[in-house]
Amino acid sequence: MTAKRQSLGDAKAAKDDEFYTQLSDIEKELRHYRKHFKGKVVYLNCDDPRESEFFHYFSYNFEKLGLKKLIAACYKSKDMDLFSTGDSERAIYLEYEGDKDGDKIPGRDEIEVQHFDGDGDFRSPESITLLEQADIVVTNPPFSLFREYIAQLIEHNKKFLVIGNMNAVTYKEIWPHIQHDRIWLGVTRAGTGQMWFRIKDDFPVKSGQRTDENGQRYQTIGSSAWFTNLDHSKRHEDLTLFKAYNAADYPMYDNYDAIEVSKAVDIPLDWDGVMGVPITFLGKYNPDQFDIVGIAKAPLGKPSKVYPQQTQVSAKGVRSKVTKLNDGPALKVETPPIGKTYYEVDGATYIQMYARILIRRKEVTS
Ligand SMILES: C[S@@+](CC[C@H](N)C(=O)[O-])C[C@H]1O[C@@H](n2cnc3c(N)ncnc32)[C@H](O)[C@@H]1O
Repeated sequence: MTAKRQSLGDAKAAKDDEFYTQLSDIEKELRHYRKHFKGKVVYLNCDDPRESEFFHYFSYNFEKLGLKKLIAACYKSKDMDLFSTGDSERAIYLEYEGDKDGDKIPGRDEIEVQHFDGDGDFRSPESITLLEQADIVVTNPPFSLFREYIAQLIEHNKKFLVIGNMNAVTYKEIWPHIQHDRIWLGVTRAGTGQMWFRIKDDFPVKSGQRTDENGQRYQTIGSSAWFTNLDHSKRHEDLTLFKAYNAADYPMYDNYDAIEVSKAVDIPLDWDGVMGVPITFLGKYNPDQFDIVGIAKAPLGKPSKVYPQQTQVSAKGVRSKVTKLNDGPALKVETPPIGKTYYEVDGATYIQMYARILIRRKEVTS
């Protein structure tokens, strides 16, 4: 990639990162974690206080949560309208240690504004020094840096509650933490209603946007979810199972030793082997009820079979030679599906499923 294209790509990614979480979404999630925050230092490391409702939430709920300290870092602050110190263009961080004058409002004179020497990047040594003071990190970080962001929290052994995209669970840097129960999804997650984020006037026009009566634009990200390592009661609720296994509804994959369960609610109550479920299952995952044994998606999956080059027949009937059938779980079918892509290998027909999480029930039926 040329330098120019790279920087255009970076600029686009940076623009795409500029969406802001609504206070109502923060409140909906945070009410499930009250007990974790007592006496704790909370760090919001991607939060411009002029824009971030996370700062609003934690400063106004400081006493209710019993926090020890709140720190918010503002990456490359452009101007300082809110606190008007006169210094523009400098990254800052704020420290708040609770209401001192008894009005229960985080006043300007109670919030200490400090300058970063650098740009306040969450990876910068200055921001890491603040991270080291913190017990819990909460934010919606830039999605384009999600892998690095999570890696840093894990490296520094921090508790966290952050917004990300559900699809990140299949990243090779994230998946091992999900599989081994070091990270899980929060409570208000994909499948339980979409989150809408505030966007700026110059945010690129895309699908899934709306504008409210005041002209404020919003973007929805259907697959957004909270990622955390703080326990919450929802992840200890059993998923009620009511379907019985039968071979027709739960076919066995051809390249993984597991049956296909296309919806988590249809997990059969009497199948003791491995099952492939969509990623949205994680929204219903209770580690006391199921074990996650793997993932069926290249390159993380461990298929029992690798296909030679295949013929792909597209939905429009276009035939091409590919090796894509190895990317995920495959089902052998009697007749080619109509209007869907399928694959042919040695005269047999296969269809491919999306990435599947491989799980097994903990309690074995007799
Ligand atoms: C998705 S927005 C969310 C903002 C805010 N946390 C919220 O939820 O409303 C991500 C924010 O991270 C900031 N950001 C981007 N790169 C950053 C970096 N390297 N270090 C710290 N913050 C960064 C962006 O300017 C942006 O404000």
